[in-house]
Amino acid sequence: MKIGLLGCGTVGSALVQLLDADGDRLGSLLGEPLELGRILVRDLHKVRAHEVPMKLLTTELAEVIEDPEIELVVELLGPGEFALSAIESALASHKSVVTANKEILSTHFRELESAAAKVNRDIFFEAAVAGGIPLIRALRVSLFGERLTRIVGIVNGTTNYILTQMQEEHVSLETALGDAQRLGYAEADPHGDLSGRDAASKLAIIASIAFGSHVDVADVQVDGIWGVTPADFDFARRSGGVIKLLAQAERSLDSPDAPVRVEVFPAIVMSDHPLASVRGSFNAVFVEGSAVGQLMFSGPGAGGLPTASAVLADIIDAVTNLRNATRAPMRVAQGTRFVDDSSIE
Ligand code: NAP
Ligand code: HSE
Repeated sequence: MKIGLLGCGTVGSALVQLLDADGDRLGSLLGEPLELGRILVRDLHKVRAHEVPMKLLTTELAEVIEDPEIELVVELLGPGEFALSAIESALASHKSVVTANKEILSTHFRELESAAAKVNRDIFFEAAVAGGIPLIRALRVSLFGERLTRIVGIVNGTTNYILTQMQEEHVSLETALGDAQRLGYAEADPHGDLSGRDAASKLAIIASIAFGSHVDVADVQVDGIWGVTPADFDFARRSGGVIKLLAQAERSLDSPDAPVRVEVFPAIVMSDHPLASVRGSFNAVFVEGSAVGQLMFSGPGAGGLPTASAVLADIIDAVTNLRNATRAPMRVAQGTRFVDDSSIE
């Protein structure tokens, strides 16, 4: 199985590291070796976090997309039109796609899912939401039969790291942001992290899957952490809580036609609430269902290796499906749960 990798930055390099360390074991479990065919980058001579054979690097997208031996493309480029058209070209060339690109998925989810279905290929995106936490699989597969009503959590590692550092270590936002960038948590342009836009993109994806309705990032009411001041931290502490950037999606089972409410906002979380103890780059997401009750998923929400772990899980599923000449089951591949509204009491 030859894999084309688009992007070899924080997450891409960590994926190369994982494949170098564990590719043989995974290959024998899967029955064939996992091999990187080509790796697209901007700068061939950049020093990378993990060493990459020079002969694999290219700056030409066509060398990946048009390589007939590459059956699976992993997109880890970042936001923008180039990444979108790379995913579209890969699917049009009958390659399955794994991506961590929440920015693109939160606006082009439906088109990309249907482009994949048209050529009988998969598009998987576990790493786009909540880093290493297997949340998308849980929502798409394990909780498919649930009537989910509410999702609330911390889905941006950079801002959670910054807020933790500012409240516990009393460092400035600028210093904490610099550390988050150095540790590989922040986006190439961290404005999206700080403004809440990154969390809003993830929330749109989560809500679309959990509620079986299309939620666009433009539907999300967003407020980031720019406006949070030391006085707010003092007030939160005196009130017995901490400030967290929350992402929340709710729908009413009583009024199925009512729009899903989606918002990202800084809030005081009381110290005895489990979300208050989610520190650093960790994420945590509460999911409420009418039968299961309340579940909490938590773990590393950003950073190279945790995110690459989620990418690897998608690679394994995509390879398995390619070899079995199948796609993810329809209910899963559609990415939406088609709730029969008439059956909702
Ligand atoms: P990054 O460190 O900025 O890496 C981006 C990579 O893409 C670099 O290798 C860059 O090449 C390459 N690239 C960008 N534009 C290109 C172009 N036009 N042509 C060729 N190569 C291009 O980003 P990252 O942190 O790894 O994130 C990658 C994706 O994963 C993003 O969508 C991000 O939102 C998502 N994600 C990241 C994290 C995280 O914790 N970092 C977690 C979850 C999801 P050069 O190296 O040559 O510059
Ligand atoms: N910049 C993102 C974050 C990366 O801090 O959560 C993980 O999606």
